[in-house]
Amino acid sequence: MFSFRWTRFLASDGDGRMSPAAYFSSLPVLETDRLVLRPLRRQDAKDIFSYASDPEVARYVLWGPHQSVSETRSYIRYMRSLSRRGLPSSWAVTLRDSGKVIGTIGFMWYSEANSAAELGYSLSKSFWNLGYATEALRAVIRSVFAALPVNRLEAQHDLRNPASGRVMEKSGMKKEGILRQRIRNKGEYVDVALFAILRSDLENQPL
Ligand SMILES: CC(C)(COP(=O)(O)OP(=O)(O)OC[C@H]1O[C@@H](n2cnc3c(N)ncnc32)[C@H](O)[C@@H]1OP(=O)(O)O)[C@@H](O)C(=O)NCCC(=O)NCCS
Repeated sequence: MFSFRWTRFLASDGDGRMSPAAYFSSLPVLETDRLVLRPLRRQDAKDIFSYASDPEVARYVLWGPHQSVSETRSYIRYMRSLSRRGLPSSWAVTLRDSGKVIGTIGFMWYSEANSAAELGYSLSKSFWNLGYATEALRAVIRSVFAALPVNRLEAQHDLRNPASGRVMEKSGMKKEGILRQRIRNKGEYVDVALFAILRSDLENQPL
């Protein structure tokens, strides 16, 4: 069993990359054709609550549907506090045109010992199947490999949520296998598919 250490880095790895603590404490703004990924703000609560309260959006993620805007505010406060401490958190996924927050994407964990991290994301149902999650994930993968001394980025999805697996696949991740009853979510054990992309994958096939 691996154990992951959540650690602050105090120096760069000498390879021109940032220290993870510096990156996590000031997540960069990532711009794509249609999206701007930026750190979460207190004012995002209303937009996020509007979809995070939807049981369909929360069906396969590790959190339950938000019951109130104040729960969403607590989530944002928590993410911002992680960031202040130099720990991995999430970006708001916003539409470039309107600034509307349509989702979040970010780190489930980061391991200094293994130079690895896991990414996760969720989007408002009104914006599904338009390629937004793939656009966001590709931007995050590119940024993380460019800025951090990371060798491996993972993502996993509930087998009953194949759309998420498609997003991983379209973002250059490779499916590594099925982990049976890997997670207990909402009272049941669930099988998940594990995907990952290595730094060498990206060097061989840039996104
Ligand atoms: C999973 C999720 C992030 C996908 O976001 P999205 O913006 O719709 O993703 P994209 O549009 O980039 O790509 C979706 C792909 O899945 C495919 N897809 C959609 N429903 C599918 C299904 N039932 N079976 C197989 N593929 C499916 C789409 O056709 C598309 O693939 P294509 O481009 O080859 O046609 C979004 O559905 C979501 O937020 N769900 C709720 C939260 C969640 O489950 N997060 C993931 C946790 S691991």
